[in-house]
Amino acid sequence: MGMKIKTKDDLRKIKEKGLLSISPDKTKITVGMATCGLATGAGEVFEALSQEVGKQKLDFLVARTGCLGFCQREPLVEVRVPGRPVIIYQEMTSKKSKDLLTAIIKKEIKKEWAMAKLENGAKLIKDSISERFEEIPLYEQLPFFKKQKKIAMRNCGFIDPDDIEEYIARGGYFSLDKALKNLTPEEIIEEIKKSGLRGRGGAGFPTGLKWSYCRKAPGEIKYVICNGDEGDPGAYMDRSVLEGDPHSVLEGMLIGGYAIGAKEGYIYVRAEYPLAIKKLKQAIQQAEEYGLLGENILGTDFSFQMKLNRGGGAFVCGEETALMASIEGKVGEPRLRPPYPAERGLWDKPTNINNVETWANVPVIIDRGSDWFSRIGTEKSKGTKVFSLVGKVKNTGLLEVPMGIKLKEIIFDIGEGILEDKKFKAVQTGGPSGGCIPAELIELPVDYEALTQAGSMMGSGGMIVMDENTCMVDVARYFLSFLKDESCGKCTSCREGIKRLYQILTDICEGRGKEGDIELLEELSSVVQAVSLCGLGGTAPNPVLSTIRYFRDEYEAHIKDKKCPAGVCRELIQYFILADKCTGCLLCARECPEKAISGERKKPHLIDQAKCIKCGVCFEVCNFDAVVIK
Ligand SMILES: Cc1cc2nc3c(=O)[nH]c(=O)nc-3n(C[C@H](O)[C@H](O)[C@H](O)COP(=O)(O)O)c2cc1C
Repeated sequence: MGMKIKTKDDLRKIKEKGLLSISPDKTKITVGMATCGLATGAGEVFEALSQEVGKQKLDFLVARTGCLGFCQREPLVEVRVPGRPVIIYQEMTSKKSKDLLTAIIKKEIKKEWAMAKLENGAKLIKDSISERFEEIPLYEQLPFFKKQKKIAMRNCGFIDPDDIEEYIARGGYFSLDKALKNLTPEEIIEEIKKSGLRGRGGAGFPTGLKWSYCRKAPGEIKYVICNGDEGDPGAYMDRSVLEGDPHSVLEGMLIGGYAIGAKEGYIYVRAEYPLAIKKLKQAIQQAEEYGLLGENILGTDFSFQMKLNRGGGAFVCGEETALMASIEGKVGEPRLRPPYPAERGLWDKPTNINNVETWANVPVIIDRGSDWFSRIGTEKSKGTKVFSLVGKVKNTGLLEVPMGIKLKEIIFDIGEGILEDKKFKAVQTGGPSGGCIPAELIELPVDYEALTQAGSMMGSGGMIVMDENTCMVDVARYFLSFLKDESCGKCTSCREGIKRLYQILTDICEGRGKEGDIELLEELSSVVQAVSLCGLGGTAPNPVLSTIRYFRDEYEAHIKDKKCPAGVCRELIQYFILADKCTGCLLCARECPEKAISGERKKPHLIDQAKCIKCGVCFEVCNFDAVVIK
């Protein structure tokens, strides 16, 4: 049970104590236990380490932390041995844990499992073992981390999200103290405006301006909301912040609440994020115990209550008006704006809604100042953005980079290029209703305007990398299929329009494309964009329009020649066996589920096209490149 914090000195005392939890003479082993870590076995690693430490009665601390971002290398384990550089081990297992402990006891290292060291160790013990540390790369020198700059994810992977004191130890809640005691609400809003912070949830609306509208709106009761619905397939930036550093969001909302004149906040988290919900619940409870939530926060007359809501389970519930309807217990369907939430929002009261990442930036801006923040990024897009880099790229995970960084730097420097060194074809940014940016625009800087001009958008930060084996018509169809299912159906243009776009795309992929289909897709897209009720319909045509814009020849090949150049659309391809390459090993014939391949041992085989279901198994198993797609 913590004490009620009233002054900056109280915070300082915890800060000093918190830092001491990394004791100079105690070994600390920390396991990354966000969802990405747990999915790859971090729970078992933590168990194994704790049990072994207990069994051997070792005076070691085994602790938990969130996600450092390099999800692909999970489970990650950080080892701090007094006098030695801190080492992060990758791809740990419960089996390896025992060997790791043995090495730690012997003050040795497991170089072959080490991903990076946290510092150079110049001031640390020099001996034959420390010589070997030299060979381990520095964390900030790894290609994955080198170009990153962490603001929203500043504490993820470095603190125990279950312990408010660890957040305070890294400077947490000092900004709230500064805001409540040294700044007026107007000054805070001015500072956020000057920082240039824009909404990280999709539309990129200037945050300070939004706050000022809500502050100025008439009414005694106002609300702030955190949008943690994160429904984009492949995106998990917000989840990671909530799981790894929930207090950064609470502190941002408290500062925002004070600035706007709200006494109540709601955090809306998608129900599929049980760990984020658990961490938030715990964080809210701890903040209440420490006097950072509830009545008379930090000894001032500012009071604030925080509530947690689980999402309604639909993509459209992330849209702000649908989200508020959902909190009110109604069906999560959007309504027409204006009135905007700042004027009439939750329970018809003025409401300010921001995304998780937007809120997490706020304490840093108050701490370091708008000048510092606005020096990062481009003229119109300030600060950093978290992206989830997934798809056909070598390094996948979460990265936070300064705005204005080039796509090339993200994909080829941080991501280290395309899997199997294939050709880079396109990157899809902005979630399901974003757009595909082609390889020739690889030098494009990542900022709100540049991405929109290229026919895509920043969105919430999903980035899906595609290689030469991707069919762009099929990609457009995939996203439209998602959006068709997720359209709430309230407005006709979205409900029927997306369905029709999907049907035309399906026809093209299945060889029924007709002359004029491209023009029809374009015309229908412009109608859906123009007249849909909310952003779902408003942006749904993006995948169609951007792929037509940059890959029109692929559409034409499907429609006119009935060919899929990437060899993806089943109805348009055939598998053949090259007689001169086939060794007659029978492997493909054995694996074929339809028994469509005939031939004797050591003689060229043949595929019966009438029986072939184009599953591609023969292509995958052939060791002699004898199976080809035509
Ligand atoms: C269909 C749809 C889904 C959305 N989903 C989310 C979401 O999951 N998270 C989010 O923060 N914003 C989402 N938005 C954007 C919100 O409506 C809103 O603009 C945002 O929460 C505002 O916060 P910001 O200014 O900090 O970005 C969505 C919008 C639409 C149209």
